[in-house]
Amino acid sequence: MTTSADQVIKKSTSICFLNGDYLALKDAKVSVLDRGFIFADGIYEVIPAFFGKPFRLEHHLKRLGKNLTAIKINNPYTMVEWHKIFSDLISKNGYFDTDCSLYLQITRGVAKRDHAFPDNPTATIFAMLNPMPPANPESLEKGLSVITREDIRWQYCHIKSISLLGNIMLKQEAAENNADEAVLIRNGYVTEGSSSNIFIVKNGIIKTPVKDNQLLPGITRDLIVEIAKQNKLAIEETSISEDELFNADEVWLSSSLKEVSPVCHIDNKTVANGKPGEHWRKMYQLFQHYKASLHTTA
Ligand code: PDD
Repeated sequence: MTTSADQVIKKSTSICFLNGDYLALKDAKVSVLDRGFIFADGIYEVIPAFFGKPFRLEHHLKRLGKNLTAIKINNPYTMVEWHKIFSDLISKNGYFDTDCSLYLQITRGVAKRDHAFPDNPTATIFAMLNPMPPANPESLEKGLSVITREDIRWQYCHIKSISLLGNIMLKQEAAENNADEAVLIRNGYVTEGSSSNIFIVKNGIIKTPVKDNQLLPGITRDLIVEIAKQNKLAIEETSISEDELFNADEVWLSSSLKEVSPVCHIDNKTVANGKPGEHWRKMYQLFQHYKASLHTTA
């Protein structure tokens, strides 16, 4: 019997990286004793690559290093080696003139099932590429719809853990409510989305929550803050209450896959007039300009 999982795997013609080898995704196999499978004992990265060039690679690799340190796994490669692996993957998959996203996962490897770390584990290192179609202008104009939910996740949300059960339960609730994302609230304050960071604009001031253990330090979030500062736009890294969220003039979400996207509905209520705001338009334009400048300086 052919299952839908078999079909997904068979359909994939892409080449992935697994523990030092490049092989067809359909042939990549990991033991059921891998601690990633048994305990979700690992971390991951998602890195966009535009026209074959990984975007903000150093920032992603720095975060990867911090995450590995946080969960006590040695970084298996240097920056230069990571760079080479990603370039090889991109060329083996032919992503030169289209965009893709790079998924990288590192787990503590294969061991007898025991919660405490094994002695001298060998990490499992896996990377694959996925196509990343450009944002559709009509969807951007329509804006995203989100729901708000209690942030039910653990206290180490700054670690990009592969243990995403909380996030996926929340995202599924959004999907079941015909929404694009769940915006999470902890003790009356906004933390982030289930797979994105959040910004609001009020009276011309852009605001985003401070980076702490309650949210993932998004590479896109940091770039938006950097772009705002470089262009002398008023921006504050500060706490945002649930009330401020509902009374914002604009709300945006950011991630490596969404870039910066406007939110036009929260819990079925419109954000301001229900249309993407002028500050978002400005930031979107500056963001695209930044991307384009990297191509021309290549
Ligand atoms: N997620 N917060 C959470 C919980 C996330 O999962 C993500 C990204 C972000 C944004 O981070 P960045 O700008 O570095 O992509 C914030 C990725 C895209 C994912 O899990 O697929």
